[in-house]
This record gives sequence, C-alpha cells and structure tokens, in this order.
Amino acid sequence: MSIQRTTSIPPIVEHPRITVIGSGYLGATHAICMASLGYEVLGVDVDEEKIAALSAGTVPFFEPGLPEQLVEALDSGRLSFTTDFDEAAAFGDVHFVCVGTPQAEGSHAADLSYVDAAFEALAARITRKALIVGKSTVPIGTAARLTALVAETSPLGDELEVAWNPEFLREGFAVQDTLHPDRLVFGVASEWAERQLSAAFRPILDDGTPLIVADLATAELVKVAANSFLATKISYINAMAEVCEATGADVNLLATALSHDDRIGGRFLKPGLGFGGGCLPKDIRAFTHRAEELGVGQAVAFLREVDDINNRRRLRIVDLIRELAGGDLAGKRIAALGAAFKPNSDDVRDAPALDVARMLYLEGAEVRVYDPEANANAHRAYPDLEYVDSMTEAVTGADVVALLTEWDEFRQADPAELGRLVASRRVVDGRHALDADAYRAAGWEFRALGRPAQPETVALVVDLKDRSEALSA
Ligand code: UGA
Repeated sequence: MSIQRTTSIPPIVEHPRITVIGSGYLGATHAICMASLGYEVLGVDVDEEKIAALSAGTVPFFEPGLPEQLVEALDSGRLSFTTDFDEAAAFGDVHFVCVGTPQAEGSHAADLSYVDAAFEALAARITRKALIVGKSTVPIGTAARLTALVAETSPLGDELEVAWNPEFLREGFAVQDTLHPDRLVFGVASEWAERQLSAAFRPILDDGTPLIVADLATAELVKVAANSFLATKISYINAMAEVCEATGADVNLLATALSHDDRIGGRFLKPGLGFGGGCLPKDIRAFTHRAEELGVGQAVAFLREVDDINNRRRLRIVDLIRELAGGDLAGKRIAALGAAFKPNSDDVRDAPALDVARMLYLEGAEVRVYDPEANANAHRAYPDLEYVDSMTEAVTGADVVALLTEWDEFRQADPAELGRLVASRRVVDGRHALDADAYRAAGWEFRALGRPAQPETVALVVDLKDRSEALSA
C-alpha cells in the first residue's frame, strides 16, 4: 500500500486527545507516558480490576519508575481510565490499540481476537474523523485487513483511518524507552495520518528522535524483524556455547573477543539460558507461521533453529545440575534462584528460569524457588513448586544452587556466606552473572553453560601474560 499524496489534506488536531485501548504492560506504560508528555489521555480496558487499580494509582505489574509516573500523571488531571468504549470513542482524536497478541492455543500463529475486537468496538462508535493506531505486534497484512474492517464497520467509512506504530520498549526500561525511543516508525496510508500521528508524538520528535515513515506492511515487519534479529543474535552465541562445551573452549571469552568487533557488537551477545518473555519466543514463531502462509517460509526457516537452540539451553542446564548432584536428581535439594524471564521484571511468560525449575521438579528434585519480584506470578503459573521469601531460605541445605535469572541480589551475594548455608558447595551459573574465581576460591564447585568445568583457558591466559611480562622484564 502506498501513501496517498493529495493536494487538499483534511485538517489535523494539533494537540490531540489520546485514548489507549488495553491497559496491560504496553498500554498502561504508553497511556502514562503520553500523559506525562502533556497530552490528555484516557486509558481503556475491559478488565474492571485493572482499571480500578490504575485509577487508584497502582500499577498492576512490576516496572521500575512507572508507579511514580502514574501518580504524577493522575495528579496532573491529564490521565484517567475507563471500561466504557462509548466514552473512549467520544474522547479521542488518536486512538492507540495496545492489546495483547498471545500465541494461539495449539498453534504458532498469533491470536488476533483482542486486536480485532478493539478495532471493531472503536469503528462502530467513532463519529468524527479520527485515527486508530495499532501498536500491538501483529502478523504482516493485519493492518490492511483491519483497514477494510474499519471501513466496513464505521459510519464514517474510510474517513476513519488506520495507522501502525510498532513499539520497541523493553520490560524493565519501559519508561525510558517510551519517552526516549531510539526511533519512531509510522506505518501510514495517507499524508493526513502521517501529520496527525506526528502531532501525537510532537515532544518526542522535537527531541530529535529519528522517524521512519513507511507503508503499513513495512511498519508491521519492522517489529517482528527486530525481535527476530535479537533472538537470532542470542541463539547464535548460545550455539557457540554448544560448540564450546564439546571442545573445552570458553564461550564467555569468545563473546568478549567477538564484541570488540564493532560490526558484531556486544549487546544481545550474552550467552546463557537464552531468551524468554512475552515477546521474543512468540514473535519468532508467529513470524515463521505467517511467512509460511505467504509462501516465503524458507526465508525465515532458520528461526525454527533459533527457537530450538534456545530451548536446548534449558535442557543442557538441567543436565549440568544433575551432573553436579551426582547423576540423579531424585530427592536432591536444588535452590532455584530466579523465576522471571529476566531481572527487573515480574514477568514469567515463557521464562527459561521457571521452565528449568519445573523440569528439575519433574525429575524428582526438591526445588525451592526464590525470585525477588516474580514469586506470585510464578506460583500462579506452577503452583506445584515450592516458593520461598528469601535467598537465604532457598539456599539453606541445598545440594546444588542454580542461578537462573541474574538479579543484582544474586550477583552481589557473598560466596563464603552462602557456602555456610548450603549442604554442598556446588553452583551452576545459568546466566554468566557470578564471579567464578570468587566462588572457586570460597571452595565451590562452579559450573556454567559453555565454559569448561576447570578454568584451563583462563589459567593459560594468565600463564602467557606472566610469561610475556617475564620476557619484557
Ligand atoms: C524485547 C525487545 O528487546 C524489545 O525491543 C521489544 O519491544 C519487546 O521484546 C517486545 O516485543 O515487546 P523484552 O521482552 O522486554 O524486550 O526483553 P529483552 O531485554 O529483549 O530480553 C529478552 C530475553 O533475552 C530475556 O529472557 C533475556 O534474558 C534474554 N537475553 C537478552 C539473553 O539471553 N542474552 C542477551 O544478550 C540479551
């Protein structure tokens, strides 16, 4: 679809009123941040409990900095919440749709029922020229389909326009990423839509943020292509970890050496237990599924391998823990440190840590899970596991300690003190977050994915350094 350039462009609203449909992770963050940028914002959700919590100043999930922003935005009088779609339709000049697109039951496809319902509900009610902007991650072609659906449903016909504005925020950095994004992407079908959307992001654009204006399909593709690239980079280094395990090489040193090449870079090259969360895993699967539907499945067939490499890391760490436990996990006490898919989040969707804890439990281990923020969500997902309220409780009497999510609390723990609590000083570092030398010095048997059981490589490096120092002396 190309952008129509016309001579007479309908007027835009310079300081648009904004609605945000869906008050989950993405929507609540977007609504709060838009209000803090000075816009009048109405957040909408069908979940009355969520709306009541947000209206009362409580963010219903863990995100550093967001609760303070919410309180400030509510106090400013610019932000309110509702469950009423009639109110939303009457309020907004620009409507952002931020509802979830989870993996469909029994398939790799994305479940688009929430997105469709939101667009339909708005289209049936909006009675003045307005813009509906999708922010949810969707399969390519969805925006074009929704454009037709809106034109059919709306009393305004094609006067009511659709645009796409993918979101790149990371959990744990949501406020920073929303207020200072590294780029904005507008998928638009008309110059009016481009101008109206620019007005809705004026302060961010005035800040010098790069803007890419594209057609709808490209905007949809940018999002899945970005997440696929990040997932591929992580699985690449984890594939190298597999090679390291077969050769005695050290993936940590390998990643460090690679990262000094600017063309490769060190970000998202951290080996370990791999990626999880509500985005990367489901996005690469939905992309593969959609590409197959479009007849270009072969182009992204490698994403299946990316997914497989990622899942093999979870199995491999269970092997390492079993090995350290003496070959059999039955009846062994394992301290599982972490449940969230990454630190600074309470999100356990497709969390590698929780998946590992579950596999250990299924092999008969007594698993004690501790996560600084995600225990409650983890308990809801896997009620059979034992959850404790502190790191001390988790490690006391443990036969093996497994670091599964790299929270600062775990990184900063003193190996000598921990050593006094456990039954055996054996630790597996699933995230390359612990100081192996400090643990070994404190008498721990230390293992990590993709690193040799004995630190021969490091010893060799030190040895050579000593020798060259001796030579130059
Ligand atoms: C990801 C993207 O980074 C965002 O740009 C995107 O907007 C978001 O998905 C989304 O689609 O909504 P997020 O899921 O918050 O953000 O998490 P990331 O920080 O990307 O981490 C994803 C996973 O990769 C985590 O489990 C993390 O532990 C793992 N990871 C990350 C590694 O294993 N190694 C690395 O080097 C980096």
